[in-house]
This record gives sequence, C-alpha cells and structure tokens, in this order.
Amino acid sequence: MAVVISVANQKGGVGKTTLTLNLGYGLARAGKKVLLIDVDPQFNLTFGLIGMNVMKYETNNVGTLMTRESSVEDTIVEVSPNLHLIPSHLNLSAKEIEIINAYNRERRLVKAIAPVLPDYDYVLIDNPPSMGIFLVNSLTASDYVLIPLELSYFGVIGMQLMFNLMAMIRNETNENLTLMGLVPNKFTRQTKVPQTRLNELKEAYPNVPILTTIPKAIALEKAQGDGVSIFDYEPDGRAARAFEKLTKEVISIAEGG
Ligand SMILES: Nc1ncnc2c1ncn2[C@@H]1O[C@H](COP(=O)(O)OP(=O)(O)OP(=O)(O)O)[C@@H](O)[C@H]1O
Ligand SMILES: [Mg+2]
Repeated sequence: MAVVISVANQKGGVGKTTLTLNLGYGLARAGKKVLLIDVDPQFNLTFGLIGMNVMKYETNNVGTLMTRESSVEDTIVEVSPNLHLIPSHLNLSAKEIEIINAYNRERRLVKAIAPVLPDYDYVLIDNPPSMGIFLVNSLTASDYVLIPLELSYFGVIGMQLMFNLMAMIRNETNENLTLMGLVPNKFTRQTKVPQTRLNELKEAYPNVPILTTIPKAIALEKAQGDGVSIFDYEPDGRAARAFEKLTKEVISIAEGG
C-alpha cells in the first residue's frame, strides 16, 4: 500500500517541484513503484516530465479526475516503468470553481486515488504555492508532508503558514497527517545567512525533523530545463548526492527502517 507524501509550502519558488521530481526519480531508482500527482495549475511538474505532451491530456488530468469526468486508470501516464504521473493541465484553474461547488469537495482526490494505492509504494503530490481547494485535497489525501524551504530572512514564514494549515487539516479532514520534515533547499555557504537561519530554526523548533539539505546548484535548474532528473544530468554532482541521501532518509522514515 502506497505511502502518500505531499510536497507543500505556500511560499512560491522554494523548490516544491524540483523536490517532487528528483525525489520521485530517486525512489524509482531505488526500485520503488512511484506515482507523482501534479495538482498545480502551473503544471511545472507535468511539463518537466512529459514536455509538450501535456496538451494531450485535456480530458484526462488531475482536474477531470477530481470532477469524476475521467477514471483514475485512464488518467495515469507512464513516464517510465516505475514512475507514473497524474498530469495537471492548462484547464485546471478553470476546474477549480467546479470542484469548490461539488459535493465532498475536500475529499475528491483521496477518493479518486484510493483504487490504485495498492499498486504503488509511494505517491508524491506537487502542490501550488497557494492555499486553496487543491492543497486542501492534497493534504487530506496524504500520510506525510515534506516542506522544502529556503533559508532566507522570509523563508520561515511559509513554514509557519504550513504548520497552521496542517493543524486545521488534522482537525477537519485528516487526523493522521504527519510532518515528515523540512528540507532546507538552495543551501549555500557564500553568505552566512543560510547556516545562521538553519541554526535558529533548530533552536526555535527543536521537535521539527530537519532532513537532508539540498545545495544551491545550477545543475538542478539546468536539469529541469532539459526535462531530466539530476541523476541523469549530473550523476556525480553534489545535488545528485544530496537527493540520493534524501531518498534513503524518506524510505527509512516511511518504512520504519
Ligand atoms: N537547490 C537548487 N539550486 C538551484 N536552483 C534551484 C534549486 N531548487 C530549485 N531551484 C530552481 O528554483 C526555481 C524554483 O524551483 P521550483 O519550481 O522547484 O519551486 P516551486 O516551489 O515548485 O515553485 P512554485 O511555488 O512556483 O510552484 C526553479 O527555476 C528551479 O530550477
Ligand atoms: Mg512548483
């Protein structure tokens, strides 16, 4: 039965999509069966995985899945044998109103994916940088949350917003939602700010798990531009090593190893 993990932060540009994509590839390389779900109307994850083919899925994407116009089986795209995708689409924002007005609106995703959970080891959900019906559905469907964040002066605010939202979700729709941890991203030693922030974070939130730090690396940006994972783009680089370590850490938390 799959472990479902939401990658979420209401702050934009912190690395949600980068983390979902490369952790997805990392888990697939480790022999796990992985389903990625893109619930972001910007469809960056979908574009990163299948490029312009995103256009083909007008009638079977995460939006039509949530309005029950397509079945989950007909909505899954095979990227590679171990890595599957429920794509987002250009028309997802238009679906938002329809979903908001639908019966059981917070549970549309959890219900829709339930039949395929036995087929996977991991489901990773990439979220939009805003609080709305898609993020609520995603957190309602998840066992765990991973929060990528930048160690900048304002980076911590997004994290606090996520903590508040998770508390609300636990009260309302999913009492089992658990914080897997924070993933400090774009780490650099070129200034002292990131290390200082990291130390402050550990002090202010002693009970919050802080997972593998991902370095700031142009290779991650370039890999995304080329539509490949960091493991294919620069297998021996620092970023690939960090994602490999993070993959092992996620497996050990999820599988209790
Ligand atoms: N560790 C890193 N080093 C260098 N560049 C990075 C790193 N992580 C992410 N980026 C780049 O930063 C930009 C934003 O990353 P990404 O799209 O993953 O963030 P996001 O949180 O998904 O954004 P949004 O909130 O818009 O969905 C991208 O251009 C990405 O390639
Ligand atoms: Mg994104």
